[in-house]
Amino acid sequence: MFSTPFVLSFSLLLSLPILFLLAPRIFSPHSSLPPIPLPDELDDLSLFNRAASSSSLSRSHLSSSNPKLKIAFLFLTNSDLHFSPLWNRFFKKSNKNLYNIYIHADPSVNITSPSGAFADKFISSKRTYRASPTLVSAARRLLATAILDDPANAFFALVSQHCIPLHSFRYVYNSLFTSRTSFIEIISKDPRLWKRYIARGRYAMTPEVPFDRFRVGSQFFVLTRKHALVVIKDRKLWKKFKKPCYRSDECYPEEHYFPTLLSMQDPNGCTHYTLTRVNWTGTTNGHPYTYRPNEVSPQLIHQLRESNHSESYLFARKFSPDCLRPLMKIADPVIFRD
Ligand SMILES: *[C@@H]1O[C@H](CO)[C@@H](O)[C@H](O)[C@H]1NC(C)=O
Ligand SMILES: *[C@@H]1O[C@H](CO)[C@@H](O)[C@H](O)[C@H]1NC(C)=O
Ligand SMILES: *[C@@H]1O[C@H](CO)[C@@H](O)[C@H](O)[C@H]1NC(C)=O
Repeated sequence: MFSTPFVLSFSLLLSLPILFLLAPRIFSPHSSLPPIPLPDELDDLSLFNRAASSSSLSRSHLSSSNPKLKIAFLFLTNSDLHFSPLWNRFFKKSNKNLYNIYIHADPSVNITSPSGAFADKFISSKRTYRASPTLVSAARRLLATAILDDPANAFFALVSQHCIPLHSFRYVYNSLFTSRTSFIEIISKDPRLWKRYIARGRYAMTPEVPFDRFRVGSQFFVLTRKHALVVIKDRKLWKKFKKPCYRSDECYPEEHYFPTLLSMQDPNGCTHYTLTRVNWTGTTNGHPYTYRPNEVSPQLIHQLRESNHSESYLFARKFSPDCLRPLMKIADPVIFRD
């Protein structure tokens, strides 16, 4: 049923540093965050504290003055955003007031500044490395930045530079706001789970994360604001998952941290499946199948949308950069037709 997307697409894994755009720290009296910073998160602590404490203010503000809820698109990349022209068309066809874009780009890579909806959307970023907790840090940084930036952000969709949209913006918007749940893959049975669990040492995860609560799932999720806050307020599990692994080929914290945390905190508020289609057939070295230009067709788009769940897939990966041309050809007549 689930083709286990166990292995990550590492292509995205590098990422970046964050800036302190917002200097003043405001600690809410309701904040549950402990004051002690974790070593590699020192730079981000202010960001997380502010995001966690700003949330309740945001909700009341939102209900009174700004009823239009938005989707925050979180782009995690370590290379150029090759498909930004396609995404620009996706965003342009929609109401400008219904989305925000945030880009976390590995600062060690020279990235060509994308234009249109992507202009000036880079957030303070840190380097990211394959099979290390830095990818989780990058995703948490994107979530915290988006939470802080706009109280109207109601859904948080994590995508990479290899992802494409499979439907129009309006279709995506309506799917998410009809469901009002988080779309995150959560798998409890997989033959590789034990090796992943003990990758930091036999007892490294206990007592916070017993083996029977350890989960795996795709890194690419769409979270509700409530669950985005669960993630940025979490210190207990993150302290465990950020520990280094003995073997990088059995680690992949980004495939475990989010599904484990959310299945512990609110299993019924999550679908347990992802909306991002990926093809793991015949894969090697932990990389999913990458579509080439000659494979791009209306039929492929229709095939990738098909799912066994109540929603169609909304996004798909991975596509090689030179798929842009054939994708642009079928963008309006096929992909964004609905
Ligand atoms: C990025 O590009 C600039 C200007 O082309 C160059 O000076 C710099 O060394 C490059 N940095 C990296 C990391 O390649
Ligand atoms: C998945 O990838 C395999 C090659 O490994 C290919 O033959 C197959 O058509 C792909 N499936 C879809 C739905 O694109
Ligand atoms: C749907 O379920 C069938 C039967 O288990 C499976 O063969 C197929 O690959 C699934 N389709 C998708 C898109 O996951």
